Amino acid sequence: MNEIPSVAVKIKEIIDETPTIKTFVFDREFEFSAGQFCMVWILGVDEIPMGLSSSDSITVQKVGDATSKLFMMKPGDKLGIKAPLGNGFSPGKKVLAIAGGVGAAPLRPLAQKGQCDTFLLGCRNRSELLYEKELSELTNLHIATDDGSYGHHGFVTDLMGDIDLKSFDTICVCGPEIMMAGVLKVLNEAGIAKRGQFSLVRYMKCGVGICGSCCLDPDGLRVCRDGPVFFGDILLKSSEFSKYSRDASGRKVSASNVH
Ligand code: FES
Repeated sequence: MNEIPSVAVKIKEIIDETPTIKTFVFDREFEFSAGQFCMVWILGVDEIPMGLSSSDSITVQKVGDATSKLFMMKPGDKLGIKAPLGNGFSPGKKVLAIAGGVGAAPLRPLAQKGQCDTFLLGCRNRSELLYEKELSELTNLHIATDDGSYGHHGFVTDLMGDIDLKSFDTICVCGPEIMMAGVLKVLNEAGIAKRGQFSLVRYMKCGVGICGSCCLDPDGLRVCRDGPVFFGDILLKSSEFSKYSRDASGRKVSASNVH
């Protein structure tokens, strides 16, 4: 197996996207396909997987020790980046993207590469809205907020009823697994589960298919190597999708912790 080396990058710029989300821009670009990820080595803390939000950036929500340390960093600080990893999305001729919260990050490159026709973006409230200006210029953007402070009052899955789902040959999805399960249910009822491509997040130690920490029940598919993007018909057979994931020690944690 060809191991991708970790390369040192400097943080060139830090963009405050929302009160809880920042974009870290590197001083070098990586070739990648939308949906591929990188392992980010934060000196003295941990190595964590992050979707690439552009060829030279990651967009991060503060959720634990490693991301808290990242949020304390300044322009000029160094990170180790191993990229690109995983399979990424396989966009067809007409692509619909559906994102919840920071799940918009790995879908954003589809829009930047001109591969996304329509984008459904959901978040808790207006202040947590990501990339609104950019996505509205590049796609047909529809917005939903849980509290109704902007766009449709409700969940992003509600917006699926307003569009002709069957006119899209590819539906790329990223967000909390409860939300992705809602999307898969709608696609399945419409008979088009196979057109759905879902980006999953799991605890990862190695990121390159060796350690087994990211395996999905029941078939042992590795999120780092066989994913992170899985087709809807595969996930319909999964006993773990939207129900639980595993922590660093391999213990099951509930779906509410699956971001
Ligand atoms: S993180 Fe090691 S096999 Fe996926």
